[in-house]
Amino acid sequence: MGSASNKAQPGPPLWLLAELTYRCPLQCPYCSNPLDFANTDQELDTEAWINVLRQAREMGAAQLGFSGGEPLVRPDMPELIAEARGLGYYTNLITSGIGLTETKVEQFREAGLDHIQVSFQASDPELNNAVAGSRKAFEKKLAMTRAVREAGYPMVLNFVIHRHNIHQMDDIIRLCEELGADYVELATCQYYGWAFKNREGLMPSKAQLDTAEDRVQAHRRRLHEAGSAMKLIFVTPDYYEERPKACMNGWGSIFLTVAPDGTALPCHSARMLPIEFPNVRNQSLKSIWYDSPGFNHYRGDAWMPEPCRSCDEKDKDFGGCRCQAYLLTGNADNADPICSKSDHHDRVLAARRAADHATASLADLTYRNARNSRVIAKA
Ligand code: FES
Repeated sequence: MGSASNKAQPGPPLWLLAELTYRCPLQCPYCSNPLDFANTDQELDTEAWINVLRQAREMGAAQLGFSGGEPLVRPDMPELIAEARGLGYYTNLITSGIGLTETKVEQFREAGLDHIQVSFQASDPELNNAVAGSRKAFEKKLAMTRAVREAGYPMVLNFVIHRHNIHQMDDIIRLCEELGADYVELATCQYYGWAFKNREGLMPSKAQLDTAEDRVQAHRRRLHEAGSAMKLIFVTPDYYEERPKACMNGWGSIFLTVAPDGTALPCHSARMLPIEFPNVRNQSLKSIWYDSPGFNHYRGDAWMPEPCRSCDEKDKDFGGCRCQAYLLTGNADNADPICSKSDHHDRVLAARRAADHATASLADLTYRNARNSRVIAKA
């Protein structure tokens, strides 16, 4: 734990991620929700969520993401959006599009929702639906992206990329053009939650990744020459980096996540760490953010072991990602093994080598559903 000197009072949370529910009609094997999500307590009710939104806004939060699970399974979305709009948040709905209807899009627009991001699993129905674990998902997503566009929203699409769809880059980008996308996030899986469990079956090889990056670059040039405003954002996996990311811009620095059961977290993955996190049901957000041991645990740099402690990049990356350190080394205090200076970097190199020879098919993955969650939690 750090000294008071290097844990100067943090600024307020600027970003609030409201994970409204862990319920989801899809079963994506790369979901970042906790493996034992099926065992979590009851979801916060509407009033409790409104209370969270008010407290966070009062503290200074300006950006609000509604996510899940699939947030659309909550019938109180219009009410929550209207409250958020009234409080002055910039609001973003992160959805699979399943459960969305033209009526709901219209209701959300009227309630003041600023932004909708729809995620896809692949560029064709067969692969999309196999990954999502739902036979009608692709068709529904296409219809809903069109409805979102017709309601006047910018078209923001997200594709989670892994070894089973990374070869589709050309088709994915063409589909996005057909749909009139403004922004396309081609986000290679990051390995947390279910994605970590399925890492061997999801991680692309270096050769796959290089080819995909080349294709994205070629399309960027083509789109630019054609005068298209569509933006392609390609997110590479940490596992192919040599330096860690400044995860969450530093622990307890600007991001605040509230999980469906009210647990407050510095990031969406932190609840698996052996740290006690507070709950908005019995503590004010202000005391959670500023005073709770959970949020103070990795603030400052006094907690850092070597090589981070004496590293001249520690103010840039804050030692990387605590959750990744925990998943790869069993101890969240360690340097993020993505860093080539980490004593555990060999684990990342081993994962890269494994990706070169992986043979797992989609059928070999563990899909994210309540049954699998309970089995995993019991084991
Ligand atoms: Fe939890 Fe990076 S995802 S600290």
